[in-house]
Amino acid sequence: MIKRVRSWWTREDKIQPPERSMDNVPEHVAIIMDGNGRWAKSHGLPRFIGHQNGMKAVKRTTIAADKLGIKYLTLYAFSTENWKRPKDEVDFLMRLPQEFLAIELDELIEKNVQVRMMGDREGLPSYTINAMEEAVRKTEGNDGLVLNFALNYGSRKEITDCMRELGRKIKTGDLNPDDITPEMLGQHMLSSGIPDPDLIIRTSGEMRISNFMLWQMAYSEMWFTDIYWPDFNEQYLYEAVAEYQRRTRRYGGLT
Ligand code: FPP
Repeated sequence: MIKRVRSWWTREDKIQPPERSMDNVPEHVAIIMDGNGRWAKSHGLPRFIGHQNGMKAVKRTTIAADKLGIKYLTLYAFSTENWKRPKDEVDFLMRLPQEFLAIELDELIEKNVQVRMMGDREGLPSYTINAMEEAVRKTEGNDGLVLNFALNYGSRKEITDCMRELGRKIKTGDLNPDDITPEMLGQHMLSSGIPDPDLIIRTSGEMRISNFMLWQMAYSEMWFTDIYWPDFNEQYLYEAVAEYQRRTRRYGGLT
């Protein structure tokens, strides 16, 4: 039985965001939440406490993103490669969406947040899928922040599945290979309907992409921080957004 805790959103609402520019706020921020294990180790705690605190950072970041006017927030919660971890850690990670949503779903609904999931349902335990599907169903009419969980997500698998689907259409004569466009591929990706990330954040000091949104990140701005994910908060999000606002995006062209 998961105990309901006091509403975090209402509590956090009382904190005023610092001065910031609301011009040119990235529409879509995607985050590779890394460093839970190292955070735990640095505190002399077991890894799962790191993930538990990572879940708290998910709450904080969702509130902060909403306050900033970010429209889409994608969070890399579990990759197709994370199955290689010890079973007890995988089991723990699989319980987190259920735990998070059991506590927060009412508040997410109230705050007009739309929950989405991007990843393979196959392989996920039924309690994880059920929790996600319930959240997706109950928030699908909301038009505020889109909170997109990348869960059992891997970009190479996503691209491979997209190729298979197009290949099948070619085989049945429903698609001419010459008609394939980048836009068409985009529509067959799991992120279909969501714009490409404007800003990708990775925590924990690692400077790699780890099979995350490879197709979609063609022109994303990157921001890396040494902070471990459980320590991430609204100040870091503002810092990342402020850095984004200072950049000039040229998409291969000239300013
Ligand atoms: C990477 O850190 C983090 C993960 C694989 C899990 C991310 C999950 C959360 C932050 C919680 C998700 C919450 C919800 C609501 C779904 P790591 O374990 O690889 O850290 P390390 O590199 O320091 O070992």
